[in-house]
Amino acid sequence: MDEHIENSMPRIGDKAPDFKATTTYGDLIFSEYNKDSWVILFSHPADFTPVCTTEMSGFATRHKEFKDMNCKLIGLSIDSIHAHVAWVNNVKKLSGVLFDFPIIADLDMSVAKKYGMIMPGEATTAAVRAVFIIDPRGIIRLIMYYPLNVGRNMDEIIRALKALQTADKHKVALPLNWQPGDKVIVPPPTSVEAMQEREKSGYEMMDFYLAKKNL
Ligand code: BEZ
Repeated sequence: MDEHIENSMPRIGDKAPDFKATTTYGDLIFSEYNKDSWVILFSHPADFTPVCTTEMSGFATRHKEFKDMNCKLIGLSIDSIHAHVAWVNNVKKLSGVLFDFPIIADLDMSVAKKYGMIMPGEATTAAVRAVFIIDPRGIIRLIMYYPLNVGRNMDEIIRALKALQTADKHKVALPLNWQPGDKVIVPPPTSVEAMQEREKSGYEMMDFYLAKKNL
């Protein structure tokens, strides 16, 4: 059903839309939550559903890895704060895993619409599985969207965050399937002189425009 929903689609490089929200850890203003920290804002379709339970448990069990990368987590669904609290309690009791990061109760869909999380062809009353990686300047750096019936990959979310931070810190790019510890790509030269210098660089090279080095 193609019901019209006023849904803006933020893009990579855009300032992350700001919002106030009620969450399982109290009310917050997103730009304050994002201050001096990377943030991963992610949505799930509904509380008390199976795929979502596996994903939220995945974020919770790997929360320390995100914290160690100066990254806060914040979830969202079109559910009430009471449903969120009951679900958090249920999963903690049954599996011992506590969803120890804020989950936004976005009943009026105001945040979901700002982040293009409502895709009417998929569902008009539930958010798709979105992931926004936002840097400490409040800039959206990476976006993933998954449908309702396919869970995300936590290793890839962590790898993508690590890749962004590595690219920023060392002014490099990361190749296919890059993992921390692998060689990185040195940006291609932009002058003939730099291209000729590159030939003598000692980098692992296919040609001057594809050169790799260890960090
Ligand atoms: C799930 O998490 O299993 C789910 C949620 C909404 C629609 C389909 C699946």
